Amino acid sequence: MSLPAPCPPLLLLLLLLLGALRHGSAQLVFSPVDFVERDACNTTVVLPCHVVNLKEHNDSNMFVAWKKQGIVLFSFDGAQQRVYRHETVPSANLLSQQDLSKGTASLKLKSSEAEDGNYSCEVTELNREGETKVDLRTVTVDNCGEEKAPTPDNKCGRQFDFMESVVISVLLFLIVVFYWAQIGVIALKCETVHKNKTYVAVGCAIFTVLAVIAVVLFIQGGNITINKVGLGFVVLPAVILMVLQYYIFKIVLVDVTRKGYILIGLQSFGFVVALVGFALCISACPSELLSVVIAGLAVMAFEDLLALLYMYTSCSRMKDHQTPRKAVEEPLNELKTETESTAEMNDG
Ligand SMILES: *[C@@H]1O[C@H](CO)[C@@H](O)[C@H](O)[C@H]1NC(C)=O
Ligand SMILES: *[C@@H]1O[C@H](CO)[C@@H](O)[C@H](O)[C@H]1NC(C)=O
Ligand SMILES: *[C@@H]1O[C@H](CO)[C@@H](O)[C@H](O)[C@H]1NC(C)=O
Repeated sequence: MSLPAPCPPLLLLLLLLLGALRHGSAQLVFSPVDFVERDACNTTVVLPCHVVNLKEHNDSNMFVAWKKQGIVLFSFDGAQQRVYRHETVPSANLLSQQDLSKGTASLKLKSSEAEDGNYSCEVTELNREGETKVDLRTVTVDNCGEEKAPTPDNKCGRQFDFMESVVISVLLFLIVVFYWAQIGVIALKCETVHKNKTYVAVGCAIFTVLAVIAVVLFIQGGNITINKVGLGFVVLPAVILMVLQYYIFKIVLVDVTRKGYILIGLQSFGFVVALVGFALCISACPSELLSVVIAGLAVMAFEDLLALLYMYTSCSRMKDHQTPRKAVEEPLNELKTETESTAEMNDG
């Protein structure tokens, strides 16, 4: 406390007496923080508590107690260097014990152990003491108003957005449908080919099961870890799709055509994009990166639609002409191949 220079000693004494009367004993003063916010991306939370007028700067003379609704959750006894933790907060600790002597009595704990509400931080230094309160709040997508500007560190944008989750689920559904449709087309329209069809159907069934698991894990809100695992189930099994596509082309076209390779290339590109998006999503939290995954899946779904149309036209042509596509391209061999395919048909 700084007083004007020409201050009479008597007035100074009076002020000090008044101060002592008001506070009982000298008070510790805190830098004020009304509330802190966390979202699903905070795995740990820090409850701030900073004393600005320590005198001794020696944690041996200090005692810190963190309370919630009157219950002591954590305390640090500097004289004995002893820590107490309530059983509900086993991860609680001072943010930094070294910095306690500088006035930092902030508490760090796992987000899952910290309920929302008012926490009080009580600090004692010899015979001086003080208390401050901080309100821990959870920000969810739901209580993010439209009025908040979408700034880069907008807390509202940091969770997996519900709409994006829905879009991902829909794309996954389309991919699954397009694959089964390809298999259906082969089964119904390409009678000339029947080998390996079962393997393709089994592969497709496995992918379908994984996709259902993915959507179930992914769509439920709240737990960011489960959401990330779900996203893994969305992206990683997609590698099966490239193999499936290759075999589908191989079954129908016998030799995979240039068109076929271009389509598989397009799908691989989509997969790589989705994979990069996934890697970014698990290393950071922002949901903007989900759009990278969405872009990758969209490319894959688009490719699957093209592949379906391609298989449809290839098989239709085969059925109409009773001639494999290859024979059309090589008219000289037409007769021979036709005989072959008829023989193959008779086999089945
Ligand atoms: C949650 O994380 C953000 C960003 O890392 C951080 O600024 C914020 O202080 C954290 N919230 C709490 C309560 O610790
Ligand atoms: C802190 O206080 C304790 C006891 O009051 C004393 O033994 C110790 O030397 C002090 N440490 C420092 C760094 O002043
Ligand atoms: C915490 O305290 C403030 C004011 O003291 C109050 O407005 C707020 O509602 C309290 N928060 C909870 C979760 O009780």
